[in-house]
Amino acid sequence: MSDKPILTIALSKGRILEQTLPLLEFANLMPKENVQTTRKLMVDGPEDWAGSKVRFLIIRAADVCTYVEKGAADLGISGRDLLLEYKPHVYEPLDLKIGKCRLCVCGPKDAVEAGDALITGGRIRVATKYDTIAEDYYRKQGVHADVIHLYGSMELAPLVGMADKIVDVVETGNTLKANGLVEEATLFDVSSRLIANPASFVTKKKQVQAVIDQLREAVKNREKVKESE
Ligand code: ATP
Ligand code: PRP
Repeated sequence: MSDKPILTIALSKGRILEQTLPLLEFANLMPKENVQTTRKLMVDGPEDWAGSKVRFLIIRAADVCTYVEKGAADLGISGRDLLLEYKPHVYEPLDLKIGKCRLCVCGPKDAVEAGDALITGGRIRVATKYDTIAEDYYRKQGVHADVIHLYGSMELAPLVGMADKIVDVVETGNTLKANGLVEEATLFDVSSRLIANPASFVTKKKQVQAVIDQLREAVKNREKVKESE
């Protein structure tokens, strides 16, 4: 039996995963099986990586912060949108420059053009999975947001009259367009971040630093390749 320390890395399944794998490959940090198809939630990685045995957790994007904050994972990869919504107590040592999009307030064209006229009695109905961000945004404008929490397909809510606006990520704008919505305001740019448990940063300093360094090189390489294309 190996007595090497275990380094646990939480990966978001879904759209970030596909862009994460080439970075891991560059860092020689590949899972031993295909994480895009396996039903296993914990997958082995390299047996000896900077003196550690590596394992990966394959979980929903919104859960990565929790696993890393609680120390069930030493490191994780999470979108900045989720970090700003949940504000977990984690370090954020590296921008991986993948999963790029922006968090926006959007609505039907007419409603966006109507602006403040839509807001009756200082309240607005907002469909989102970013409840705190949406509430804060409207509070700063002196408007009370009645948040309708949804788990996806936010663009539908204004179409069926359930919400006035949505707060959601936009990349190409195709989903908005296909549903007759337009952007009203950009709240912030989003990309995926490497996050680290603060205790692991101390107790597994060498390994955590090695992951940061190797992934930093992988990001640099990816940017260089993109520039030359
Ligand atoms: P789940 O599928 O678990 O319900 P989800 O739909 O939020 O959650 P993904 O769509 O995989 O999961 O999104 C994960 C992260 O990817 C988001 O938190 C965001 O940082 C980024 N992201 C989401 N949509 C886009 C997009 N259209 N383009 C680029 N990045 C995106
Ligand atoms: C995400 C997001 C938007 C869409 C934006 O949805 O919630 O709907 O991508 O991307 P676009 O600007 O390129 O169209 P996703 O595909 O993850 O589905 P979901 O709504 O179920 O989360």
